[in-house]
Amino acid sequence: MNRFEISAIKTHEIIDNRGTPTIRAYVCVADKFWGRADVPCGSSTGTYEAKELRDGDSRYRGKGVRKAIRNIQEVIYPRLRGMDATRQREIDYAMIELDGTDDKSKLGANAILGVSLAVAKAAAAACRLPLYKYLNANAYILPVPQACMINGGIHAGNDLEFQEFCVMPVGAESFTEAVRMLCEINQSLGELLTETFGKGATNAGEDGGYAPPARSAAEAMSVLTEAVRNAGYADRAVYGLDVAATHFFQKESGRYLLEGTEKSRKEMIEFLGQLVAEYPAIVSLEDPLHEDDFEGTREITKALEDIMIIGDDFFTTNINRLRKGVAAAAGNAILWKVNQIGSLTEALDVAAYARDHQYAVVVSERSGETEDDILSDITVALNAGVIKTGGVRGSDRGSNYNRFMEIEEELGSAAVYAGRNYIRLP
Ligand code: PGA
Ligand code: ZN
Repeated sequence: MNRFEISAIKTHEIIDNRGTPTIRAYVCVADKFWGRADVPCGSSTGTYEAKELRDGDSRYRGKGVRKAIRNIQEVIYPRLRGMDATRQREIDYAMIELDGTDDKSKLGANAILGVSLAVAKAAAAACRLPLYKYLNANAYILPVPQACMINGGIHAGNDLEFQEFCVMPVGAESFTEAVRMLCEINQSLGELLTETFGKGATNAGEDGGYAPPARSAAEAMSVLTEAVRNAGYADRAVYGLDVAATHFFQKESGRYLLEGTEKSRKEMIEFLGQLVAEYPAIVSLEDPLHEDDFEGTREITKALEDIMIIGDDFFTTNINRLRKGVAAAAGNAILWKVNQIGSLTEALDVAAYARDHQYAVVVSERSGETEDDILSDITVALNAGVIKTGGVRGSDRGSNYNRFMEIEEELGSAAVYAGRNYIRLP
């Protein structure tokens, strides 16, 4: 037997942090080394994402993943059995060919991704390397967390339209110190929210941020910046917002329903320009306009030239969408979510293309996550400058923060915290 030969694949239907089923895939190499990966799942998804396969029957209100699991066992495994697990590209493309659709809807992006990630883990185990080192022998950057502290949009039961108000502790000395700062800010914000809005204000949103009854983006920024000041970190933190504009854009009228008024593209760009002028520590805006507005995204990228303009629903980690964005000079950063495209190889190719065209790579988890911490290893392997992995509450979020701290310690003096250089490419 080849020492990297895929000898078994096991699967489980498990639940994520929303109580929604997802796939846990195990791949075995040479009857000995196992790799395990859980498949994440978004709720504020982009139209152009690869499609997960759900059962659509009565179990879990149609959300079961037994069909996708059957596809792994009956279609994918027979094809991959005996293949060399270190040949990630061949394996991923073998699955893409088996599927045969553009959006992976036949076998399910969730089926393909679970196996793709578990293959990488198993191959790393067989090489007796941690995943980040297996993927990149020269991995050394610990990213700045863009940590969600206040949730709104469809990730919270409040009236805020913007989905995430995030803190980036760029002035920390290390990732480990960044985590301490975030936890202290989180405590300070919890106290301030209770004082300001009453005790219900500390209810949780979907990314581990608070979901207070704030009514405007400016009010959310005001309370967040005050909490950061109270924690003593005003000059060491900057801010990133996920506007997630697709989700409050009204297709029929072509306008954004924001803070009680309908806004045109031009008014949205002005609104965001004013917010950034009022809070100059905002350094990053994600999906400032809806997912199909290439022209508007080009305009805002030009108008707010110092701001990182990240495409999430806008690019959906899809090389064709990114190519179009690059050609239009729309955005200057890509949100990198491996399940938006559905295989590790394709996602790594998108990151390489982004960098070749001076787009920053911001790695991101999904709102639906498990205790799996695989994203941390992949982020370090990418030498990415920023990670969006939610707030600091809940083990679905903490798992990644904890794994980053472990990696930082393991790398020792070779580790570099991206800090204020988070956009600079390695
Ligand atoms: P999602 O949200 O995982 O629910 O899509 C995350 C984001 O929009 O960044
Ligand atoms: Zn987003």
